[in-house]
Amino acid sequence: MNIVITGANRGLGLGFVQYYLAQGDEVWACYRSNLDGLDDIQSDKLHTLQLDVSRDFDANTLALPDSIDLLINNAGIYGPYGAQDLDSITSDAMLEVFNVDCVGPLRVVQQLKERIIRAKGTIANISSKMGSSYDNGSGGTYAYRAAKAGLVIISKSMAIDLKPSGVSVITLHPGWVSTDMTHQSGLIDVQTSVAGMTDVITHVGDYELGQFVAFDSKVIPF
Ligand SMILES: NC(=O)c1ccc[n+]([C@@H]2O[C@H](COP(=O)([O-])OP(=O)(O)OC[C@H]3O[C@@H](n4cnc5c(N)ncnc54)[C@H](OP(=O)(O)O)[C@@H]3O)[C@@H](O)[C@H]2O)c1
Repeated sequence: MNIVITGANRGLGLGFVQYYLAQGDEVWACYRSNLDGLDDIQSDKLHTLQLDVSRDFDANTLALPDSIDLLINNAGIYGPYGAQDLDSITSDAMLEVFNVDCVGPLRVVQQLKERIIRAKGTIANISSKMGSSYDNGSGGTYAYRAAKAGLVIISKSMAIDLKPSGVSVITLHPGWVSTDMTHQSGLIDVQTSVAGMTDVITHVGDYELGQFVAFDSKVIPF
């Protein structure tokens, strides 16, 4: 399979790269500014390319395959730590996180969709349970919650819009994972999360259109 992963230089993105290379797939690993963990991987199936999802880009200027079986929109930011409550959240922080976490995946899909359609491929959008209004029992975290909720909504529209072209779209929640984003304070490690999410991706046909699914296969109401 030809697989494109955004935010692939560390954390869950790097975990996806390692998983799919071990399966023998060709992986196009996108990084924003530094190769980080990608630099340590020796594989002729690994292709690295610079891609900042916060900016418009033209896929024709990138060294991408003509046909993409799987796109994982993984790149994301949390926004300011400890400054996302009702009193401290700023409009700049709201817009920055929304741009990366919600508009970013939309940009990537708009640019890559013809290649994904060619393969009748799959798009996995990595959101977060924090983007579920149903699950919000503690309030706060305005920027991250809103951006990830927006991603759930656009992911559902993509699922509907791309179904006639044979493309499957799923929204994923990785669990609470030990990465830089959680200051390594997660309940599970990257390998466990990636093993679960890749299993959901493999069985994407078993889920309803645009469903929001956690790494442990549980469907998340939103
Ligand atoms: N960890 C968790 O518990 C958890 C839970 C729910 C959802 N998620 C979601 O899972 C995804 C991966 O999270 P993680 O825990 O692996 O986080 P992480 O360790 O902080 O990694 C985030 C990745 O996104 C990249 N990125 C950030 N802004 C970008 C941009 N503008 N363009 C391209 N790449 C960009 C980062 O690149 P740089 O190194 O260049 O900054 C990095 O590769 C995110 O979407 C996150 O919201 C994580």
